[in-house]
Order: sequence, then structure tokens, then C-alpha cells
Amino acid sequence: MLISQLKIFGFRNIETASLNTNKRVNVFYGKNGSGKTSILEALFFLSRAKSFRTSKKGELLRDGSSLLAVSADLQQHLETHKLGIGLEGKGTTKLKLDGEVVTKLSQASILFPTQLITPESFDIFWSSPKARRSFFDFGLFHVEHEFQNEWNVYSKILKQTNALLRRGGVNQKELLYWYRGLVESANKIDHFRELFLEEHFSKAIKELALELEHNEKTDLLKNLLMRYKKKAFEQEISDDSLLKQIEKDIKYKQVGFGPNRADYLFLRDGEDMSSRLSRGQAKMLFYLLVVAMVNIIKQTTKKNILLLVDDLPSEVDQQTRQTMLEMLLHSQAQIFVTGIENNIAMEFMNYTDSVNVFHVEHGTVRQESMEQLCP
Ligand SMILES: Nc1ncnc2c1ncn2[C@@H]1O[C@H](COP(=O)(O)OP(=O)(O)OP(=O)(O)O)[C@@H](O)[C@H]1O
Ligand SMILES: [Mg+2]
Repeated sequence: MLISQLKIFGFRNIETASLNTNKRVNVFYGKNGSGKTSILEALFFLSRAKSFRTSKKGELLRDGSSLLAVSADLQQHLETHKLGIGLEGKGTTKLKLDGEVVTKLSQASILFPTQLITPESFDIFWSSPKARRSFFDFGLFHVEHEFQNEWNVYSKILKQTNALLRRGGVNQKELLYWYRGLVESANKIDHFRELFLEEHFSKAIKELALELEHNEKTDLLKNLLMRYKKKAFEQEISDDSLLKQIEKDIKYKQVGFGPNRADYLFLRDGEDMSSRLSRGQAKMLFYLLVVAMVNIIKQTTKKNILLLVDDLPSEVDQQTRQTMLEMLLHSQAQIFVTGIENNIAMEFMNYTDSVNVFHVEHGTVRQESMEQLCP
């Protein structure tokens, strides 16, 4: 898949832009506040019908404007599809695929999944386990369709059980019924996650790390091990063991185990390395995770992913930056990347000819030619 044309209208500070994005790498450079992140946000909005910066869609409307639209030509298996999303006033979003209104937003994401790297992404190693679970679950949702179904089942039972625990004064027999279902479903989710990590993710990481040109920084990537740390109901399932758990959970008014309490560990020589990572190392490591994820989704679903990279890190040393670029180019994705200076474009051009360069200034986006870049 390739986004060959992108049109943006009334989105944040962009009044209108019509861009020829038919290359593997599309670089957007410009000063702070010029509109670079807004372009990536527009693409993300087209893919997932939501923003990564705000939950209030109205904020996306350009000041003074009551309508926004983003559309793209997607080239896939020799066909071109037109996907568009619109938002009017405070109303709902409307999605259209090849002129037909799409009611299920997931249909668009199925056509065109995105992965995003922003300066906040690197916090994944230090933030709450939820961020790490969502990262891996994104892959599972795309690769393993049964996971989505099981997740829905689990969420429903958990909600119901927690409501009963909160309400208090419930019959233990009734709780026992819910706990049986809960444990069964929780175990299935854990199993999906373990398999995904072992059979897909760890392999993809190893392969990718080995493909990188060796330097003293890449050792960190080559020695990475990951572990899924589940918080399962570990005992044999019997009325006795479940009732013991229920007693505990009644005290705390919530279910005390399950995949919503699990975590992922990043290990080196058997030790959790997140507490020892430098900022630069975390950035490099996160690139490895994202590119591995992109490649797994591509290989198993045959769908290409769009990779959005906001603010390609400038405050990393030359070797780290080179490794990051190399990783991006090992991804089987179309890449949209932003930065302050146009030297990023030149750096990509050291590796590939398939680069478009756009200069963003006060919400206006202009494509630049090679001659303009290297006069
Ligand atoms: N709804 C809106 N309408 C008009 N302008 C907006 C709206 N929302 C944000 N802006 C403005 O759009 C501009 C572009 O923001 P954006 O975050 O895209 O810039 P950027 O190029 O990514 O900057 P930086 O390099 O600092 O990250 C900012 O000046 C911001 O104040
Ligand atoms: Mg920005």
C-alpha cells in the first residue's frame, strides 16, 4: 500500500494542502509551530478516526472553520482506493471508501493501519504497564482475529464482576459463576499474548537486530529479551480456590488478577533494563519495537502499515541516529517523518531515492525538488 495523494482541508492550522506523497519516505520539515505534527495527525485521523493529541475532535477544526476533511488515494495490489474522512461542526465523523459511506470505522483501519512514534512514545519503558500492554495488543488485534473476540468476552465478564464486587452484599454463589468464566477467559488472553511474544515478536526483533550494521550501540538491541509477566489466577480451578480469591476481592472491591494487570519486561542478561536505559537508548529500542511490529503485521496480514514519525530525534549521537534511520528503512512501511531541518531528507537520500521533501510554513505545505535541496 502506498498513499500516493493526500488532501487536507481545514485541519488545525492547515487551510488546504494537496500533496503528492507517492514515495516510500515523505519528509516534512519546518519551524516550530509550522504544522508538521498536524499533517501526521491528519493521517492518523484518517486511519483511526481519532487524534493522538486530543480526545476532543472539535479542536481539530481550523479556527473559524466548521468543516474539516482529509482524503487519500491508497494504492494497493494494483488498485487505487479513495478513503476520506470528514468532520462537520461538533457532529460525528463521516468516513467514505470509494464514494461509499463506511459505518464501521474499523474497516478503514483494516485497509490502512498506522503506527506512530512521537517524542512521548519513548516513555513506554517508564510509564504504567497499560502503555506496554496497548503496544503489544495493537499487534495482536491485527494479527490474531480471535484475540479481539476473546478480549470482548473478557471485558464484559470483568465489568460485570467488578460491578458486583463494588455493589457489595452479593451472593458468593453468583460470584462463583462469574469467576469461572473470568478465569477461563483471562487464561486465553494470557495465552494469546505469550504466543504472540514468543512466536512473532521475539523472532522479529532478533531478525531485525541482526540485519543492522554493527556498531557499539546495536549490542543493546541484539541482547534484548522480552518477557510477558502475567498476573494469572495460578491455582487449580475449584470452588475452594475461587472462593478464597473472591473473599480477597470482596475486600478490595475489585478483581485482583487478570490480563489487565499484566506487564511486559525488557531484559538484558536476565535483568530488567528499563530502569537503566538512557533516553537515547530508549529511543533506539523503541524504534526496534515499532519496526518489528510493522513487519509482523505486514508479513501476517499482507497489509502495509503507515509509519508516522514525529520529530525524528535530533538529540542523539551520529551512530544512534544512523541505526534509527536504518531501522526505519528496514520497515516494510511507507514512512511520513517530520523534523526541524531539511537535513533529514538528505540523510534518507543516502539510503534511498524514494524520498519526497515538503517544507511546512505557517500551515502551508510546499513540495521541494532535489535542486532546491542541493542547489
Ligand atoms: N484548531 C486550530 N486551528 C488553527 N490553528 C491551530 C489549531 N490547533 C493548533 N493550531 C496551531 O497550529 C500550529 C501548528 O501546530 P503543530 O503542532 O502542527 O506544529 P509543528 O510544526 O509540529 O511544531 P513543533 O515543531 O513545535 O512540534 C500551532 O501554531 C498551533 O497553535
Ligand atoms: Mg510538532
